[in-house]
Amino acid sequence: MSDGHHDFDALLASTRATLTRISSEFTPAVFASSLAAEDMVLTDLILRNKLPIGIFSLETGRLHAETLGMIERIKQVYGYDIALHRPEPAAVDAYVQQHGLNAFYDSVDMRKECCRIRKVEPLKRALAGNQAWVTGQRRAQSSTRAELAIEEHDAAHGMTKFNPLADWSEDDVWHYIRSNAVPYNPLHDKGYPSIGCEPCTRAIQPGEDVRAGRWWWENPDTKECGLHLVDGKLIRIKQMSA
Ligand code: ADX
Ligand code: SF4
Repeated sequence: MSDGHHDFDALLASTRATLTRISSEFTPAVFASSLAAEDMVLTDLILRNKLPIGIFSLETGRLHAETLGMIERIKQVYGYDIALHRPEPAAVDAYVQQHGLNAFYDSVDMRKECCRIRKVEPLKRALAGNQAWVTGQRRAQSSTRAELAIEEHDAAHGMTKFNPLADWSEDDVWHYIRSNAVPYNPLHDKGYPSIGCEPCTRAIQPGEDVRAGRWWWENPDTKECGLHLVDGKLIRIKQMSA
């Protein structure tokens, strides 16, 4: 990984094997794509190999135009329609009326409530009826992901969860994207290594942590949206009470 790409072929072979195993042993299975770089690697691996893993995005209503543009790109390049899951309009309206459109800047609780309405609840609907789900999370992304396993039990959703890129470095991701001409979100070339909702993501400076531009006003250990729970809890809760 850091010493060039000599391990890369083995890493890729093992990731392919994980995806093949999911396809045969967990039916149906779905992949949650944020449409960012890691998720384009998995999208490419799934669609080029015609693996029977459905791909969906949580369309929060606050994504960048560039991110939404990836839905059309995927349609052009792979002929595939990403399934979109949107928040309950009534829940969004109630939040905005009571707290304001951008209340997530006011407190961690207000931020988590917005993520709950726009991401966590729609995720629950997207996962219903599946045996497993797949994410693009990597260990190197943040302190909250340092112990991420490739396969884990997701108690919150009552199914197996796979993080096939858990061992991949940032370099591995870009090596795959460039060697396979995978389409990617143009924001990655403008200082955005990690991309979430538009109001909660900003560009970073060279040398800053890759997730420094996500919820940048919060402490690093609170920076999870609630999509990814460990033993039914956010990892940050474990850390804070430890
Ligand atoms: S987050 O928890 O901080 O928002 P991050 O952006 O790092 O997560 O993405 C980690 C993984 O969560 C992605 O690889 C993807 O599997 C899933 N994910 C995040 N946002 C979305 C989204 N809008 N739609 C679908 N999946 C998502
Ligand atoms: Fe709301 Fe920001 Fe969470 Fe998106 S990332 S759901 S805008 S708080």
